[in-house]
Amino acid sequence: MLRALYPGSFDPITNGHLDVLARAARLFEEVVVAVAHNESKAALFSTQERVALLEESTRHLTNVKVTSFEGLLVEFARAQHAKAVIRGLRAVSDFEFEFQMALMNRSLEPELEALFLMPCEEYSYISSRMVKEVARLGGEVGRFVPRCVEEALAKRFGRTPSALKA
Ligand code: PNS
Repeated sequence: MLRALYPGSFDPITNGHLDVLARAARLFEEVVVAVAHNESKAALFSTQERVALLEESTRHLTNVKVTSFEGLLVEFARAQHAKAVIRGLRAVSDFEFEFQMALMNRSLEPELEALFLMPCEEYSYISSRMVKEVARLGGEVGRFVPRCVEEALAKRFGRTPSALKA
């Protein structure tokens, strides 16, 4: 089974993440999407909430599994028998961090390949951080995230999702 791991914070998942995931799912027999559980990083949604939103958003992708992990990515990848780690690259600004992370992971686990996929251009400026800020300030985010995420953001910030507005 040719399996890839797609790790991230996914706080919350965006259409950009989904686009990258769909591309990975066409290349690999199975893709495991893994929400990183990190006690020291403040998140808007709990790990369980992020996993649930991912599960709902990826139901149509039959070879995608959703889970969470704690600790070193390379160890989780080894336990999952993953051959590659998928990461999305939106712009040059993503590159430096991704390059450092990929080389660190390679030095820890030389057998694990890092594979970078570019989302569709229309998603190249979307980030979870910006989506949260727009939603918090009352902007509409329905174009940037799956419906369940839009609803979860509206609920968290005490607003009405655009889809439910008259
Ligand atoms: O969506 P993000 O926040 O850019 O994802 C970053 C993530 C979770 C992939 C990265 O922080 C990670 O792999 N964390 C697990 C801990 C680890 O293995 N760190 C060493 C690699 S630099």
